[in-house]
Amino acid sequence: MNDLKKRVEELTKILNEANYNYYVLDNPTITDQEYDKYLRELINIETEHPELADPSSPTNRVGGEVIDKFNKIVHEKPMLSLANVFNEEEIKDFDAKIKKEGYTPEYVCEYKIDGLSVALIYEGGKLIRGVTRGDGVTGEDITHNVKTIKSIPLTLPRPIDIEVRGEIFMNKSTLEKLNKEREEKGLPLLQNVRNAAAGSIRQLDSKITAKRELDNFIYYLPEPEKYGIKTHLEALEFMSSLGFKVNPANRLVKDIDGILNFITEITEKRNSLPYEIDGVVIKVNDIDMQEKLGYTAKYPKWATAYKFPATEVLTKLTDIIFTVGRTGRVTPNAVLDPVIVMGSTIRRATLHNEEYVLSKNLMIGDIVSIRKAGDVIPEVVEAKFERRTGDEVPFKMIDKCPMCHSELIKLPDQADYYCKNPECPKRNIESIIHYVSRDALNIEGLGDEIVEELYNLGFVKNIVDLYSIKDKKKAIMEFDGYGEKSLNKIIDNIENSKNSSLERLLYGLGIKEIGTKTAKLLASYFGSMDMLMQATQEELESIRDIGSITAKSVVEYFKTHQDLIAELKSLGVNMIYKGRIAGTNELVTDKRFVITGTITGLGRKEIKEKLENYNAKVSESVSKNTDIVIVGTNPGSKYQDALNLGITIWDEAKTLEVLNNLQ
Ligand code: IVH
Repeated sequence: MNDLKKRVEELTKILNEANYNYYVLDNPTITDQEYDKYLRELINIETEHPELADPSSPTNRVGGEVIDKFNKIVHEKPMLSLANVFNEEEIKDFDAKIKKEGYTPEYVCEYKIDGLSVALIYEGGKLIRGVTRGDGVTGEDITHNVKTIKSIPLTLPRPIDIEVRGEIFMNKSTLEKLNKEREEKGLPLLQNVRNAAAGSIRQLDSKITAKRELDNFIYYLPEPEKYGIKTHLEALEFMSSLGFKVNPANRLVKDIDGILNFITEITEKRNSLPYEIDGVVIKVNDIDMQEKLGYTAKYPKWATAYKFPATEVLTKLTDIIFTVGRTGRVTPNAVLDPVIVMGSTIRRATLHNEEYVLSKNLMIGDIVSIRKAGDVIPEVVEAKFERRTGDEVPFKMIDKCPMCHSELIKLPDQADYYCKNPECPKRNIESIIHYVSRDALNIEGLGDEIVEELYNLGFVKNIVDLYSIKDKKKAIMEFDGYGEKSLNKIIDNIENSKNSSLERLLYGLGIKEIGTKTAKLLASYFGSMDMLMQATQEELESIRDIGSITAKSVVEYFKTHQDLIAELKSLGVNMIYKGRIAGTNELVTDKRFVITGTITGLGRKEIKEKLENYNAKVSESVSKNTDIVIVGTNPGSKYQDALNLGITIWDEAKTLEVLNNLQ
């Protein structure tokens, strides 16, 4: 038995090394036949002696594990997206904004790989979990499928705990090969590499994923400080040394010229790459600088994505129709003869408002050029006046709501027209759609069309009605298309969503000016709906990042919606913030801290947590922006840095005095 165990270890090592050499280094060391032979031997041993099969055995590469549903996983640190820039000027703006904060950054330029992002979590050097980005906060467990991706290590050379993030993608040649096979079998073709990769990773049966030959690049280390890493480039090198596939094209550049050169070079090479890229990602190299620049709710402020120029095509503007949003805003939309741009069919494009249409002098019947860049919303660029025949019809803004026919209202200093009718069906439908959307109560199964239908059928006239769908099940099922199973799922999801944290509800209510970030801020600041509802305009305005317009909107909303909130509460909808409660303390809140040396009785992690609970920032190195340096026994060079820069120093006694007063 011991010998067998040893053989398993030997085979695991051989196969892992062969995989690494072939798929990461692109430098095969054994033949395919040899590989298959070793793999078969290992599969045989594991089949006969299942107790010897390790969860991170290379036999997982061929797939086999089948799951019945995707479990939800909350990311340790949110998985953010990137802001976009489209030209040299916008790249310069990005750089200028950072310089304005007092920094002179170096950047790392990377290819923007067209796939989907993944978080890989290792414990003791073993891959234990792979998670999709999902909504950035919660993703789906795709471990069984991730294990089939041969360029993702199952075991690291050292038994460390680590999370890394990167992009899973499909090479262009793989898509071609798969589509050829699918064509022969009469199956629908996979649209493009991104959809193909996303579809392949969302399979319950990992055997299917294994056949899709997915690949990956790793490009982000969420917790560099754990490994003493100070720059993004070091993080990339560190991850590469652990056996991850890191793109060799990544490059450190000193300034804007370096960025522009990188972009020019890759624009020429782009088509000859084996994988699709849709731009270049530009990241500040210094990690301390990154932390100080910080984040918005969706993006890091220290990185941006340059998107390659869009493709433009011509088509006919056949009509301009009007839609009504949740706030009552009426938007003109272009109806286009369908055209394919960058792999997707475009039929509609927003025309924003009356002014926008008039400024472009668009007429119905015009030939217009349409632009689309990557995953960005398509836009109408201009009308081709030289193609006019004289039959075009001038655009005219409407003055009545297209849905409820009430008079539209336009404020003198605003571009938009609004339907102010609180009974307007379209407004109500949009409000319900917003309430159930991903960043709000995230009620899966209630797509836009279902909401609209339930509204039109009279079952759900407002958000409160959602909670009585369960009592109307029989009646709803009498209509076509509603199976009991799917309806039960929706009902379950509605019931479960009652436990959501307060910020989701706040955002879902659709209060003017309250986006996801402000909702989170208010929820964490006040802790409960009751406390928030009692807040005065002055109190709200005193909160950092809340301006007078937002404060006013919040106060006004609660003045007129007390009944709604009471009703939701009586239905059991949670009104409490479930995340950390941020208190305030004038010595701590909004200050930037650095910790060096040890403080008796308090771990560094605890200190950091306590400070962060009070909205302080804790960074790794001292700079002129640091407010306070906590100096314990055996301090490092940061102590000297603090003295040199004349920064306030707290010794152990002072630190304990302040921290003991925090919760
Ligand atoms: S960095 C906080 N680097 O682009 C760091 N993202 O449009 C966030 N992507 O969600 C990501 N190549 O899926 C980064 N070299 C690269 C990337 C990259 C592709 C994707 C990623 C992200 C999306 C944002």
